[in-house]
Amino acid sequence: MRYDYDKLKDFAAQVMVKAGLERDEAEIFAENLLYADSRGMGSHGISRLINYSRRVQCGVITPGVNAEIVSQAPSCLVIDGHNGIGAKIARQAMDMCIERARETGCCAATVRNGNHFGAGAFYTKYAAEQGMIAFMVSNSEAAVAPIGGAKAMLGTNPLGVAVPAGRGEPFDLDMATSVVARGKVVLAQKEGRPIPQGWAVDKYGADTTDPGAVLDGGCMLPFGGAKGYAISLFIDLMCSCLGGALNCRTTPHFWTDYEHPQNVGYFLVVIDPDKFLPREQFLERVDDMLDEFRACPPAPGVERVYIPGEIEAAKRAVSLEKGIELSDAVANELRSVGESYGVDFIRPL
Ligand SMILES: NC(=O)c1ccc[n+]([C@@H]2O[C@H](COP(=O)([O-])OP(=O)(O)OC[C@H]3O[C@@H](n4cnc5c(N)ncnc54)[C@H](O)[C@@H]3O)[C@@H](O)[C@H]2O)c1
Repeated sequence: MRYDYDKLKDFAAQVMVKAGLERDEAEIFAENLLYADSRGMGSHGISRLINYSRRVQCGVITPGVNAEIVSQAPSCLVIDGHNGIGAKIARQAMDMCIERARETGCCAATVRNGNHFGAGAFYTKYAAEQGMIAFMVSNSEAAVAPIGGAKAMLGTNPLGVAVPAGRGEPFDLDMATSVVARGKVVLAQKEGRPIPQGWAVDKYGADTTDPGAVLDGGCMLPFGGAKGYAISLFIDLMCSCLGGALNCRTTPHFWTDYEHPQNVGYFLVVIDPDKFLPREQFLERVDDMLDEFRACPPAPGVERVYIPGEIEAAKRAVSLEKGIELSDAVANELRSVGESYGVDFIRPL
């Protein structure tokens, strides 16, 4: 069934205020969840309210703190997230980087003491909408085995890259470095669905379509074989070795550890295209190239070629007009989360 976007967002914000967040951070957090849901990324949407609210209530996420620049060079920022809620700290870090890149042409930043930031496009596409090219990654708890390994050592370490366009949607790549986000397995389990073969293995290393077998000691698989493993390892190097956060092996588990702050890291780079080419010329060149791909003859059985982020943008337009689609399993869970915080869940449209 579909639910009104604004009412759902307000419900999530109210729950998070009851759990302990300040109103402004509860609002940006709720916006982050609904952003993911509206784009068809239910794995990173309001279905996680149960975990996030518990994390705040248990004190493993600190309310009322802000991202702080603790050291810097003209094009480099070292930021401490002070264990604040991911959506707020990551947005603040992106704002700091955008501001600095407007002055210097580009800015790279690390963020330590971060928490799970949800969908990466919430930061990178946001930067592209302000005319900037943006790259952002985060490390996360071990859930993916390296190629040839029999133990989870890397997170599903997300990677977001956005490039502004003149007409139409920006180039907006937002992906896990596992075949898919692990949250999709968690959501499949909640909704009683099998997962496609090739996403993950069970604790014996055997291919499985049973989400329970993956979550009970199994591993997600890296995207693109050895190359996905390499990119994920690069992300851990940037976030932990350069950024000073914990690494994928040492960061506490988002889903099961409610005692220790996560201290994941983010690494981001923002580039101001104006420092490279006149804006109109750059945007025209981007538009022409993206259109060339849109016009690629489709393979048999395929409707057309899409630009990364285009499918999600179309889903968001429908969600904003018709409401957010939630399964009954997720809606029922939200109703009981609401009850436990004294917040009434909303009716479907
Ligand atoms: N915060 C974290 O720790 C964390 C960890 C992992 C994933 N995530 C988030 O999970 C979400 C889901 O990630 P995912 O990898 O499962 O997503 P996905 O596999 O659905 O999509 C990945 C990317 O591929 C593009 N894409 C898919 N089909 C396409 C097509 N036909 N043509 C062109 N482009 C296409 C999408 O636009 C998207 O940019 C993302 O928002 C990611 O940021 C977050």
